[in-house]
Amino acid sequence: MSEAQNARIARLQPVGQGTPAGKFMRFFWHPISGADELKNGDVKKITLLGEKLVLFRGENGKPGLVTERCPHRGASMSIGFVDGDTLRCAYHAWQFDTAGKCLEQPSEAEGGKNLERYGLKSYPVQEQGGLIFAYLGAAPVPLLPRFELMVDPGRDHDVGVSDVPCNWLQISENNMDPYHVEFLHMMYTNVLRKKQGLPPIRERKHKKVAFEVFHFGIVKKRVWEGDEEEGNEEWTVGHPVVFPGTAIVPITADWVQMQIRVPTDDQNTRVYWYNSKRRPAGEKPSGVCPVWANPWQKPNGDMDLESLNGQDMSVFVTQGPISDHTEENLVTSDKGVALYRKTILDQIDAIEAGRDPLGVVRDEKDNTPWIELPSETHFGFSFAGLQSSAAYMHPEGEQHNKTVAAK
Ligand code: FES
Ligand SMILES: [Fe+2]
Repeated sequence: MSEAQNARIARLQPVGQGTPAGKFMRFFWHPISGADELKNGDVKKITLLGEKLVLFRGENGKPGLVTERCPHRGASMSIGFVDGDTLRCAYHAWQFDTAGKCLEQPSEAEGGKNLERYGLKSYPVQEQGGLIFAYLGAAPVPLLPRFELMVDPGRDHDVGVSDVPCNWLQISENNMDPYHVEFLHMMYTNVLRKKQGLPPIRERKHKKVAFEVFHFGIVKKRVWEGDEEEGNEEWTVGHPVVFPGTAIVPITADWVQMQIRVPTDDQNTRVYWYNSKRRPAGEKPSGVCPVWANPWQKPNGDMDLESLNGQDMSVFVTQGPISDHTEENLVTSDKGVALYRKTILDQIDAIEAGRDPLGVVRDEKDNTPWIELPSETHFGFSFAGLQSSAAYMHPEGEQHNKTVAAK
């Protein structure tokens, strides 16, 4: 990669305030917690886009998101406590509302003077589909996109959570790399299975792949060798990466997984594996969105190279905390990765020119009743014999573990 190209790619990695990718990321709402993980009276430390924050839920059920450091003498509000609908610091009990406004300094006469000088910064939060979302960008605040997969009342949800110690880009661009499926998930799986004396899973090759930029990101399309193009939804519909880094992965006709990548900071990413399943006719809504841990490591610290999710996360981690793109050699089969990087760089240019990036929703009529995303209803391959994660197996693996709480 040339110096000039690398300088452009490097603009995609750091996500702190004021960086090019940080400004891009701040045009979007990001999930920060499962809604059921935050009960009334709970306080939770959050790091998002390098910013240290505290999420709390008052007795009225309303969540608030404020900066972590107490403006008095700097104690962490994450060890503070909820009092009614407000948050108090543990050290001297200064009191703040969900807008970060200081309401009381109890050690001062009459509860303190000029309280408006001492607020915490606060950010908008909203709940949808069993997740709590935050917006860290500038006003005007865009709409939280109402994706059908989250808001259709005919669907139930659960969400796996993984903390992956590397930069967000090397995770998100994986879905623009269809060819790795042939190798990491098929060939490599069979190398491991052979060692274990297990029969191989089916291996296939791509006949062709295509990528199309659309209003929410980029759609990936593929045809496997031996399959027709005509009437093949993998080719006629495909599935997208929604900006900034959410893969829409159809698993069955009634089960779609959103893999939402949220940059914690430059060298850490939280991945939400959000399952959205159409409820069989006549069944009652589940009413909860269980949260479960989806680790990339086994309990002994080894990488989990035997599950689908574990294979992906392990390779991302081995690319380094921030993959060094000057050491890469992109080839023809990386064209999706190249397009993804270029398209995001184009969005950064658009932002610098005063425009919105792709995927920002501001008009209620675009958000009503919900947003449908392109999503084929079948895959031309099966991972029977390869479980999707250590905690949550593919239905063909028959075990559903939805009760492991994420830490
Ligand atoms: S440090 Fe928070 S109230 Fe004193
Ligand atoms: Fe993969």
